[in-house]
Amino acid sequence: MRRIAIINQKGGVGKTTTTTNLGAALARRGKRVLIVDIDPQANLSIHVDVDITKLEHSTYTLLVEDSTPAQAIRPTSTKGLEILPTNIDLSGAELELANAIGRETILRDKLAQHFKEHGEVDFVLYDCPPSLGLLSLNALAAADEVFIPVQTEFFALQGMTKLLQVVELVRGRINPTLRITAIVPCLVDLRTNLASEVLAELRAVFPDQVLATKIRQNIRLAEAPSHGKTIFEYAPESTGARDYDDLAAEVLGESSSAARFLS
Ligand SMILES: Nc1ncnc2c1ncn2[C@@H]1O[C@H](COP(=O)(O)OP(=O)(O)O)[C@@H](O)[C@H]1O
Ligand SMILES: [Mg+2]
Repeated sequence: MRRIAIINQKGGVGKTTTTTNLGAALARRGKRVLIVDIDPQANLSIHVDVDITKLEHSTYTLLVEDSTPAQAIRPTSTKGLEILPTNIDLSGAELELANAIGRETILRDKLAQHFKEHGEVDFVLYDCPPSLGLLSLNALAAADEVFIPVQTEFFALQGMTKLLQVVELVRGRINPTLRITAIVPCLVDLRTNLASEVLAELRAVFPDQVLATKIRQNIRLAEAPSHGKTIFEYAPESTGARDYDDLAAEVLGESSSAARFLS
């Protein structure tokens, strides 16, 4: 089982789009995938068509009340892809848990128990909020790998130092196996020099992590969420669908550039 936190404290860089469509691409390749919505904006849940007004159990009740993952997890329209959904209630969780003992590891512990009882999946992908607070810490504690989506624009590296510090802190105190395994270039506009300059800069800082696959800007990727569909359901012939399937191949080590994931 590979457990991956998809994180960047910047908003709008492609975290949710990547969680949904990488998850769907892996599921279409026969993997069992659980995507976890740990962002109070609930964009991930909405993207796969969960009615968030009718959630009895969610990431929120899991963290703050005594719900189990089994009560909250539900299938999606993609075979093999399940979601642990949330709603806006989650925005209160950080405050409500302020004095709870072991509050950084609730998600990890509950999911560990769940997988023990119900069997593991192949991939767990955590869609993090645009902040580095308690919710993101719960994802980092429950992951083995960190994927950082970056938008290839001028400020791409801004804030990266802080993110690396937080990952280091979690590795040191809570989760010694955690490592950053992928920088995922998202919203790439190949027509601009800026995109290639930023990619070169990223490769200089993260020579082993920047993926070969680039997720290009594609309007279909921006349209799909409002239809409650993954890119493979909404526009299977789009460049967005092709890029996310290429990403899945690279993550699975099935493309030549992916040797790192096999070591
Ligand atoms: N490759 C892409 N091409 C075009 N639009 C995209 C692409 N990736 C994401 N978007 C759009 O950009 C916005 C931000 O993406 P999102 O995945 O929600 O970012 P985050 O979760 O990091 O805040 C959304 O409206 C999304 O639909
Ligand atoms: Mg998001």
